[in-house]
Amino acid sequence: MFYHKLGKVPRKRHVVVKNGDQLVYEKLMGQEGFSGVSSLLYKDQIPCSAVDVSPLIGRKPSTGDCNTNLNYKHYKTQQLNPDSNVFSARSPLLENSEVEISVSTYLYSGIFVNSSCHEVYFIEEGEGNLLSEFGVLAVSSGDYVVIPKGLYYQWDIKTSVKYILIQSKQAIKFPKRYLNAMGQFLEDSPICERDINVPSHLDPIFDKREHKILGRRDDTYFEVTLDHHPFDTIGWDGYLYPYSISIHDFEPLVGRLHMPPPIHQMFESANFVICNFVPRLYDFHPEAVPAPYYHHNVDSDEVLYYVKGNFMSRSGIEQGSITLHPAGLVHGPQPGKVLESIGKKKTDELAVMIDTFQPLYSSKRAEDISVKDYHKSWLENK
Ligand SMILES: [Fe+2]
Repeated sequence: MFYHKLGKVPRKRHVVVKNGDQLVYEKLMGQEGFSGVSSLLYKDQIPCSAVDVSPLIGRKPSTGDCNTNLNYKHYKTQQLNPDSNVFSARSPLLENSEVEISVSTYLYSGIFVNSSCHEVYFIEEGEGNLLSEFGVLAVSSGDYVVIPKGLYYQWDIKTSVKYILIQSKQAIKFPKRYLNAMGQFLEDSPICERDINVPSHLDPIFDKREHKILGRRDDTYFEVTLDHHPFDTIGWDGYLYPYSISIHDFEPLVGRLHMPPPIHQMFESANFVICNFVPRLYDFHPEAVPAPYYHHNVDSDEVLYYVKGNFMSRSGIEQGSITLHPAGLVHGPQPGKVLESIGKKKTDELAVMIDTFQPLYSSKRAEDISVKDYHKSWLENK
């Protein structure tokens, strides 16, 4: 990330700052102790003035391990029962010890903090803002919204929404190979700094009434009551802040012959990657086969969420479908799809892919929406 600042920031760190007659309080938010990326915020009120902390007001629903038997899976998220509370909305469809993947149309309207995981929301549908101590970040359909662990945030979205939430124990970053030694995007990267949207302005709330923050810590939910509103920042600067990047701003790389999935990569974390398939021209060698070859990824489980368009290699897939192709099993185009792709010039597919380096396990919630016998969909005469 790059340095950014908003609002009133003094010339030196850790000096007396006043707002009128009143002292302003510094709050450092940083990762990896004091060694990772950080930002320094200037707050109207003492940021830890808690009236009450309730350590356990809920538990992450038990997900079980439904698919401990290795198999191909197809889940239809269109068939999910609508969530009516934050706990079920955040309940994973797929998870392992490092990452959780959920899909919902319910967005919690209160202030939230995730104390255990970094988060990426892929906003399939929705328009509005993400509010936080760092200011106002505009959000649109197609955005990935990256929320660092420990951020107090609140959604301000009045439209209907549907989103994928990816919760990760480790930080979510842009791929190192896209960056030069100074952290600047290289010329051949499919994304660059201009594609990254940062909080545009501060809209501080000076409210000395009590405000509750719902938080997650490991598998439990807690509630902190502060004696003021936490979005009382009058200025901040640093390298750590929420940001968004649109799937529509990803510039696809194309070649004469089929290029492997890493060219579609948007983010990396220690234990998974996030890629996206976007509208693009197909491979242009006269004898090219645009559909992917069958592949056997022995080190990753592959999750694909189909956002829009006609996905070139798959049959029976709809908008909102998720497929899980686990490590240990070969996968690729379904019968007829290789032939169908030959001679095609372009695709309008839009999909998000999450490849995890440890096995994923599905919840009952996922199995309730799974397509029976998906594993037989490669049989020629089915
Ligand atoms: Fe694949």
